[in-house]
Amino acid sequence: MNKPHCTLTEHVFLVGFMGAGKSTVARRIARVCGVASLDMDTYIERAQGRSISEIFADGGEELFREIETKTLEDLALRENKLVISCGGGIVMSEKNRRIMQDAGHVVHLQVTADEAASRISNKSSRPLFRDIESARRLCERRLPLYMDAADWTLSTSDKNVACIAGETIDHLKEEGILCQQQG
Ligand code: S3P
Repeated sequence: MNKPHCTLTEHVFLVGFMGAGKSTVARRIARVCGVASLDMDTYIERAQGRSISEIFADGGEELFREIETKTLEDLALRENKLVISCGGGIVMSEKNRRIMQDAGHVVHLQVTADEAASRISNKSSRPLFRDIESARRLCERRLPLYMDAADWTLSTSDKNVACIAGETIDHLKEEGILCQQQG
């Protein structure tokens, strides 16, 4: 069977709280549709030659946010359109929200802190996921920012990766952002 081949008319930014499944969903959309995906945290780690936790340890959250915004600016300018899974805190800066809105389509994968906690296996790799109480507070504080950034929000409650990716693909096709290539 031939691999389906689609094109993206603009970047797709997946945003949402830690553990929403952004990276896995981006990879799955890429595999199913034959488009390119990129995980921002992994990209940053490779470019920096150190882990996210090490960046936080070296320069605090401030340094990480600087690197994150610079990376987002660079990626937004790329000609080849990508499905980009973003770190959970990307929406905290108004500048980042504007870059994403100007450069593409923002999909918010909504998750509760409790569900996120059950999905995240390695919490030590996430400096801002300290304990469930603080995660709940952070998730609540960020919700309006995700809503502000998003062109579309999808609840991920009780859905597996295949289902979340499938609903997102349908949405992107309806919007004319993901197009089946002819021939
Ligand atoms: C963060 C989320 C992480 C990572 C960093 C900060 C946040 O990404 O960017 O630890 O502020 O929510 P994931 O959402 O992929 O875990």
